[in-house]
Amino acid sequence: MLFSGLAEVGDDPILLVSTMFKASQDPNKVDLGVGVYKDAKGNTAILNSVKKAEQFLVDNQATKTYLSPAGNPEFNKLVQDMLIGADHRSVSENRVSTFQTPGGTGGVRIGLEFVKACNPNANVWISNPTWPNHTAITKSLGLNPKQYRYYDIKQGQFQYEEMLEDLSGADVGDVVILHGCCHNASGADLSNAQWDELAALMLEKGLVPFVDFAYQGFGDGIEEDTYAARVLSTKLPEALIASSCSKNFAMYRDRAGAITLVSSSADEHSKNASHMLSAVRATYSMPPDHGAAVVAHILGNPDLKAEWVSEVDEMRERVKKMRGTFVEKMNEKAPNSGFGYIAEQKGMFSYLTLEAEQIQTLINDHSIFFMGNGRVNMAGLTDDNIDYVTDAIASLFKS
Ligand code: LMR
Repeated sequence: MLFSGLAEVGDDPILLVSTMFKASQDPNKVDLGVGVYKDAKGNTAILNSVKKAEQFLVDNQATKTYLSPAGNPEFNKLVQDMLIGADHRSVSENRVSTFQTPGGTGGVRIGLEFVKACNPNANVWISNPTWPNHTAITKSLGLNPKQYRYYDIKQGQFQYEEMLEDLSGADVGDVVILHGCCHNASGADLSNAQWDELAALMLEKGLVPFVDFAYQGFGDGIEEDTYAARVLSTKLPEALIASSCSKNFAMYRDRAGAITLVSSSADEHSKNASHMLSAVRATYSMPPDHGAAVVAHILGNPDLKAEWVSEVDEMRERVKKMRGTFVEKMNEKAPNSGFGYIAEQKGMFSYLTLEAEQIQTLINDHSIFFMGNGRVNMAGLTDDNIDYVTDAIASLFKS
């Protein structure tokens, strides 16, 4: 029988944490798993700017006929401006396009479909560690995943020199997936000077950057966080940027994202864009409208955009504050626990440098749910649960 020979596939490690959290009956349970922002009360609320834009659409949207495979052109233009700036050289040289995709994952998928059209055997370099879907998508397309060292989970240390060393061994035309900001899962980012140096190395080696930019605004600010995307797409002739509106618009389930393609010349670009569109048509035909229409309305309306920027600022600052509070409390409760690095890292994620069995104790005995490799979503910490969480972690350090 055709359908009877398959072995079971293990759960995605991130989605598994959500399942475990939902199943737990413990009234004290804490969800530090999936990368979703929570406010001070622990809710993932709809942003006011989003509510207003949705109301505008309800009142004014006149049709629900098909978009095109490229999606909403207004969204594409506004998102591109937000990612690399309207003044980017590739814009005046007609060698950049942004295509709306279902979430950032859709952007990664279509971007790698495009890579496959260019070279079905392409090497795709992925940071170790990374978001598990990078490897899953690369493998599902039959591309060749390679790892570069990025972060030592046990030591809590960013491995910049090791990253450069590994990428120095890559071949011309290899694709390198880089986290645009707020590295998922370590929270350790390159400095601007390091991005410059990496861009120079990639140029010298003929490597192609694929920036996964899912957390714009959660690092230092909407504008500040664009450094990597801008420098890589300026200094190198070709680039891909997958971006997401899930986190910064808190529109997780509406699946608004994009893939931006920068080609080396306008001539190449029109051929390349046709392959991107053909990958979309063969995969989901065209992207869903709603989330992107909301984002386009917000970004195209100066007052709403200002309101949205301040909502993003508030989300970022709350996570930063919880990082600081976490470190302060751990320093008080377990002075030698060594979590100081968490206050320096950016975005939602960091690793807890704990042994595997300590992690299991936190999950099984305290119902604090996070990934088995120690990745925690710092945005899940609130004033109500931070003492519970830090007490539980501190108890691991008491003999
Ligand atoms: C995460 O890393 O938790 C998020 O990006 C959500 C997801 O889809 O994995």
